[in-house]
Amino acid sequence: MKMRSSKTLVFYPGTNKVTACNFLTRSVFDCSPEVVGLLASWDDWASTAQIARAHGWSKADLNAVVPQLLDFSALVTAGSPLAEQETRFSGQWGWSLPTALMHFCVQDSEFMTIEQAEARQIDRAGHVAQPDLLLKNAPGAIRLPDALADNDLLTLMARRRTNRTAAAPTITARQLSDCLFAGMGITGETSNCVGALPLGMTPSGGARNPYEAYVVATGVEDLEPGVYHYSAAGHDLGRISANHVPKISELVGGQEWADAMPCLILLCARLDRTMWKYEDANAYRVVLIEAGHIGQNMMLAATSHGLSACPTAALSHSAIKRLLGLDRLTDAPIYALTLSTPETDPHPAGRSIN
Ligand SMILES: Cc1cc2nc3c(=O)[nH]c(=O)nc-3n(C[C@H](O)[C@H](O)[C@H](O)COP(=O)(O)O)c2cc1C
Repeated sequence: MKMRSSKTLVFYPGTNKVTACNFLTRSVFDCSPEVVGLLASWDDWASTAQIARAHGWSKADLNAVVPQLLDFSALVTAGSPLAEQETRFSGQWGWSLPTALMHFCVQDSEFMTIEQAEARQIDRAGHVAQPDLLLKNAPGAIRLPDALADNDLLTLMARRRTNRTAAAPTITARQLSDCLFAGMGITGETSNCVGALPLGMTPSGGARNPYEAYVVATGVEDLEPGVYHYSAAGHDLGRISANHVPKISELVGGQEWADAMPCLILLCARLDRTMWKYEDANAYRVVLIEAGHIGQNMMLAATSHGLSACPTAALSHSAIKRLLGLDRLTDAPIYALTLSTPETDPHPAGRSIN
């Protein structure tokens, strides 16, 4: 059986040990400098017998360490699914390894429950002072005009609130449509040296338009419960999953309040669109920033309809990709928003896990 060290390993030194991380599998383990040396020299397909001969390890020592290294995905077997995934990574990932480390290591994170998150904050507040959440200027600062006086747009923007309750089981198709258009709608076209570029309701780095929106509708009037792709090109919904409508909490890190929501919008980046033009890793930040622009526009459209859009970055990436049939390494669920008519309770916001 031929093996080699994984091509997606990152090492960082600690005291008397080296910590290794395979960012594609999110496996983290400690190892000795000798094992680092072994992995460094085992960079091409070879059997344990060949490695023992070439690098002076005894067969017994190798046999003792190899099963664990396979387990940690520090070693990869020729022809295995992991070997295939690494090939896809080296062929498709255009940004730096540190960027890949960041991107892949935050997939499918485990999230605390509300109770755990609150207990942690209370404990932390007991021994670490919180940083200021607002900075004030010294007396004598220049007072600006009242922003909300006679300004309908800002008054609408000031009404936006995250609310995790649903006073009604449904929203209307019009409400959903307006939120989708506000975030994703195509409103123009430009061109550059290599062709046409869509222009939309929100800015996009290089007009690369990396986002696609998907809708999980459980309570949208005139829309069969289902999973849909929103095509900004046609301003229409294409059904992508006929049978299975998952519980929304399964897609958003187990947040149970989300199951009462009539609708979830998922924003998934096609990283290759931006990667195609920009080789530098800063473009990864550009893609993330764009999600904020899209989400904010959707939230404001929701507010104008009397809805609340609750944003969430606590995503169950693998479940989302399976549901939507996104199987490329460069397909990346980034952000999501639930839509609902909020309860009018004076303290209705509900509690968040973040
Ligand atoms: C990037 C981002 C991620 C968020 N993720 C979550 C989340 O996972 N769960 C949740 O309940 N709220 C989430 N929120 C909502 C915040 O908790 C909320 O914005 C905050 O409490 C402030 O309230 P406001 O939106 O009403 O101003 C997120 C907000 C942002 C901007």
